[in-house]
Amino acid sequence: MRAFVHSGKPGLENTYLTSVEKVEPQDGEVRVRLKTAGLNHRDIWNLYRRSEDAPPVVLGSDGAGVIEAIGKEVTNIQIGDEVIINPSLNWQVKSDSPPGDFEILGVPGHGTFAEYITIPVINIEPKPRYLSWEESGVLSLAALTAFRALFTRGRLMAEQTVLIPGIGSGVATFLLLMAKAAGARVIVTSRSEKKCERAIQLGADIAIKSDNDWKKGLVDEKIDLIIDSVGPAIWEKALSVLRIGGTLVNFGATTGDEVKINLRNLYFGQYNLLGTTMGSTEEFKEMLKFIGKHQIKPVLDKVFHHADSKEAILRMNEGSHFGKICLKMDW
Ligand SMILES: NC(=O)c1ccc[n+]([C@@H]2O[C@H](COP(=O)([O-])OP(=O)(O)OC[C@H]3O[C@@H](n4cnc5c(N)ncnc54)[C@H](OP(=O)(O)O)[C@@H]3O)[C@@H](O)[C@H]2O)c1
Repeated sequence: MRAFVHSGKPGLENTYLTSVEKVEPQDGEVRVRLKTAGLNHRDIWNLYRRSEDAPPVVLGSDGAGVIEAIGKEVTNIQIGDEVIINPSLNWQVKSDSPPGDFEILGVPGHGTFAEYITIPVINIEPKPRYLSWEESGVLSLAALTAFRALFTRGRLMAEQTVLIPGIGSGVATFLLLMAKAAGARVIVTSRSEKKCERAIQLGADIAIKSDNDWKKGLVDEKIDLIIDSVGPAIWEKALSVLRIGGTLVNFGATTGDEVKINLRNLYFGQYNLLGTTMGSTEEFKEMLKFIGKHQIKPVLDKVFHHADSKEAILRMNEGSHFGKICLKMDW
C-alpha cells in the first residue's frame, strides 16, 4: 500500500511516499481503507523527536474511511461500514490523566497517512452522517482535545467568557465553535488580521491582534477561562487579562516549553493553572454526541492529495492556515 513515511535524520527532507506492507487485523482489530486523513501540528513535532535509527514510520493521527477487513472477536461491525478513527490509544475511561500505556496513533506506531490502517476496533466510531469525508478525516484529534480542555478540564458554563489565543490553529477553531455552541462569550487572538475576520464570521464575539495591548483592548471584559496552546509568546498577556479566580488550561507549547510566572500575581490572583492532553474513548463519544447535537463542522483550510503530503505539512509549518488541513487518498 502507498504510505507517507519519515525515516532517518530529523526533518521534512526525510519524508517520502513509499510502499509499505498491509497489516492483517488480529483479534479485536479491523483494517480501514482510508479515504481522508487530517494533519496536526504533532506531525511536524514528530519529524524532530524520532531517533535516527528508528524504523520508518507512517505519519498521521487522524483519518476516516471504510472497513475493509475484520479480525476475530470483532462484533457489531461490518465490511463496508463508514468510520472515523479515534487516535487516543489505550485510554478508555475519563480520568485525571491517561494510563501509563497511553499512546497517540502515528508515532511511535504507524499512522493514517496511508491507504490502509489496522487498528483496534475500540478506536473506531461510525462516521457522522452530516460530515463529508474531508470533514470527518480532520475531526478526531483536535476536536477531542478541544472538548476535554473546554468541558472536562475547563468546566465551561453557558454565559462565561473564554479567551482562545492563536485562533488559526486546528484545535482553536474547534474550541471557538464548541464554546459558542455551549452558550459562552468567546474572545480570540491571532497574529493575522484576516484570521481575526474569519473568527468573527464563525461567531467569535471579539477578535484582537496578538501583538496589540490585550489589557487595553479587553478592559471591560471578565475572562473566566483561557484555553491556550501558544505558550510563552502570549503567556504574560493572557494571565494579565484573566479574572481573579479564573482558570487557564494549557494543552500545547507551540512557541516554547518554558514560561515565567510571577508567584505573587498567581496567589493573589487565586488562579487555577491546569494542563490537559487529548482525551479518553468516553470523552470521544461525548464529543461526537455534542458536535452532532449542534451540527458542528470542522473548519477546513485546504485539501491536498496524498501524493502532496509534503506540501500539506509545509503549509502547516509556515502557519498561514486557518483550521484543518486534509489529505485525500483517492488514488
Ligand atoms: N496536548 C495535546 O493533546 C495536544 C493536542 C493537539 C494539539 N496540541 C498542541 O497544540 C498546538 C496547536 O496544535 P494545532 O495542531 O492546532 O496547531 P496549528 O494548527 O499549527 O496552530 C498553531 C497556532 O499557534 C499560533 N501561533 C504560532 N506561533 C505563534 C506566535 N509566535 N505567537 C502567537 N501565536 C502563534 C497560530 O495562530 P495564529 O496564526 O492565529 O496567530 C497558529 O495557527 C501545538 O503545539 C500542538 O502540538 C496538543
